[in-house]
Amino acid sequence: MELPAHVAANRRQWDAWASDYVAAGEASWAGQPKWGLFGLPETEVGLVPASVEGLDTIELGCGTGYVSAWLARRGARPVGIDNSEQQLRTARLLQVEHGLDFPLHFGNAEATPFADDSFDLAISEYGASIWCDPYVWIPEAARILRPGGELIFLVSAVVAVLCLGDLETDTVTTTLARPQCGMHVFDWPDDDSVEFHLSHGEQLRLLRECGFEAEQLLELYAPVDATTRYTYMTAEWAAQWPVEEVWRAPTALACVTVGQRYRAKGNTDEPLRGQVRVVGRAIAAVVRAQRRTQPQREQPTRKYVRSAACWKLLPTTPQSALRCRYE
Ligand SMILES: C[S@@+](CC[C@H](N)C(=O)[O-])C[C@H]1O[C@@H](n2cnc3c(N)ncnc32)[C@H](O)[C@@H]1O
Repeated sequence: MELPAHVAANRRQWDAWASDYVAAGEASWAGQPKWGLFGLPETEVGLVPASVEGLDTIELGCGTGYVSAWLARRGARPVGIDNSEQQLRTARLLQVEHGLDFPLHFGNAEATPFADDSFDLAISEYGASIWCDPYVWIPEAARILRPGGELIFLVSAVVAVLCLGDLETDTVTTTLARPQCGMHVFDWPDDDSVEFHLSHGEQLRLLRECGFEAEQLLELYAPVDATTRYTYMTAEWAAQWPVEEVWRAPTALACVTVGQRYRAKGNTDEPLRGQVRVVGRAIAAVVRAQRRTQPQREQPTRKYVRSAACWKLLPTTPQSALRCRYE
């Protein structure tokens, strides 16, 4: 099947970039879980669930596979999918080096080869979460997640996307460079890659439409003395405005999920639909009981995580050369 143009473009671009990500992949496989451009530790962020023991997990856009490696070490059964053969090559070499073996699929996270209800947790750190079309990959994640499963994904913060320069060599500023209204496709002028970013309201609407409850939106800030290898962002900026955001979205009550799937398959029979709801409610009760009995862990400190922030927006005329499609 022919790939959508943005998927083909991102494949070419990521195959070309893969060699630049080997060292970071090696360091991440060897170290503790850290997130985002400034490597905030998991003990600080609290991004993954308290226990992943025995969960079937899928990493959408797994790159070098370190997130799946962390999940494997915590007792999960991870699977990774990525659109770049070169990134997966690094992931496979690191699997051998670290003696960890889990399935890695070469493919597009917008149209995965997995059956309905295959996974308990879908996760993406700067993977499908920014390189795939959200109107395609989020419904796909909903399809392959089981009732009671959870979708967790890390993206660039909306305010950061609005203030970034057009070129990777431009450093972020405190000026809005482009409108938020209708943001969706970002076709940066200095390379062939295509990114996707939605405003908060639209992201929330889409998640709910796909059967997710948006439980948490974590805003990640950086310590002022933090460092990053990416020159387009600075710690000074990221200490004042969120550099990244993490959405934690469990699938909504199983009765909704089961009912939606039933209707999506074209079923209209009323008595049967009632039975589907009863089965769904029973599943939802089990899921809720399981959530209540999950072991508690130490609370993350969340020093650099805020759920709300105040900032003064500087009005400006958008003068961006970035080719965006606002819809
Ligand atoms: C910045 S990496 C993030 C992955 C991981 N956290 C890492 O740093 O290795 C982005 C990954 O998304 C992958 N990607 C881009 N488009 C994709 C698609 N349509 N389906 C699956 N993966 C995709 C790229 O090939 C790349 O490996």
